[in-house]
Amino acid sequence: MQRAAPKSFNIKSFGCQMNVYDGERMTDLLSRENMVAASEREADLVVLNTCHIREKAAEKVYSDIGRLRREDGSRPMIAVAGCVAQAEGAEIPRRAREVDIVVGPQAYHRLPELISEAAAGKRALDLDLPGLEKFGLLPKRRKVGASAFLTVQEGCDKFCTYCVVPYTRGAEISRSFDAIIDEARALVDAGAKEITLVGQNVNAWEDGGRDLGALIGALDALHGLARIRYTTSHPNDMTVGLIAAHAQVEKLMPFLHLPVQSGSDRILKAMNRSHSADSYARIIDRVRAVRPDIAISSDFIVGFPGESDPDFEATLELVERIGFASAYSFKFSARPGTPAASMDGQVEPHVIDERLQRLQSVLNTQQSAFNAASVGKRTDILLERKGKHEGQLIGKTPWLQSVHVFATGAAIGDMIAVDLVSAGPNSLAGSRVSKELHVA
Ligand code: 5AD
Ligand code: SF4
Repeated sequence: MQRAAPKSFNIKSFGCQMNVYDGERMTDLLSRENMVAASEREADLVVLNTCHIREKAAEKVYSDIGRLRREDGSRPMIAVAGCVAQAEGAEIPRRAREVDIVVGPQAYHRLPELISEAAAGKRALDLDLPGLEKFGLLPKRRKVGASAFLTVQEGCDKFCTYCVVPYTRGAEISRSFDAIIDEARALVDAGAKEITLVGQNVNAWEDGGRDLGALIGALDALHGLARIRYTTSHPNDMTVGLIAAHAQVEKLMPFLHLPVQSGSDRILKAMNRSHSADSYARIIDRVRAVRPDIAISSDFIVGFPGESDPDFEATLELVERIGFASAYSFKFSARPGTPAASMDGQVEPHVIDERLQRLQSVLNTQQSAFNAASVGKRTDILLERKGKHEGQLIGKTPWLQSVHVFATGAAIGDMIAVDLVSAGPNSLAGSRVSKELHVA
């Protein structure tokens, strides 16, 4: 069926920060095509930028597609982008006939052509993995928030046995140093005060002998940029240079997200993680030695095939040993095509539920304790969005905690000094010190 070319669009991103970044770049791209952003109910084109990491996230796409049907029976042009698109490809329009476009995470710069094909009544599919091609062809960044993501690295060569990423995002590739510095400059010009460097294995980034620590060192010189972060990292790529950057680069925030997944060496081996509980703890010790106030965050998987009670206890022990400021924990999800999906010893769902609850309860206690220990501190926060109440703003501390504050005259994008006055499990309340005391 031929249809009018879409004039408006809506992009919904799920999953990781890389998808958020990709969603922003698609917005830039479609805006250059003179399309305007609209609500999901009204847009002529809806892009679902999907996540395939766990079954629940992947299946969600199909219910989301169903919900796009409108009251009058019509529906927008529908594009499925992201990792579900890459993993399931032509299967998607077979399962959901209303899908017009399927585009993988390395091919979305070709969206305008795919939209034309779809408007001509064809089903448009592009699942190429052309590596870095898209970055050279996307328009310059223009509209960004106070805190912006910048993809520096994509893909993964680690092949953890539970994970789909090496299949959906391809091999590890690093963008060039120059391209990254250019984009960082454009982000700062567009109003970003904080840049988070993102990559599936961001600390595997390298260019001509420079490591991520060197890149962060170079970004430190960028006038107008106040804060630098990076996520997400692999223990094997915590180089000496990157750890040193935590001591030397003032703009690098004291926060490290370093997934460990399990505290049992037997399970880590079965996961093909190539680190042990001990080697993980030693890395944290080295980082803490140069930056004692650093907040440590992590990812955990419970119920990996073969995980016994003692294996799970080892995870709890590691959590006690490290002390996390925050962490994500997930039930193991058997992903088709990954080695772990067909391993012996799949754990009973009720055992997984119970372990997840126990782990989350310990992690929540640690997070609350970390927040409570911040009360009484004076710190800068970067104001990122409005709060629920009139005049309230929400900013982030260097340790990535959210702070609610009433600060008349202050605006999103401002860095202000606050005294942290009270803490809950997920956020803190701050009281503005005074404009003059701000130290950023
Ligand atoms: N099941 C459960 N959690 C997973 N993750 C990745 N793959 C799976 C899976 N198959 C988790 C890991 C990773 C985070 C992004 O998602 O903890 O670090
Ligand atoms: Fe997945 Fe492991 Fe690569 Fe992370 S390091 S993206 S968990 S395969």
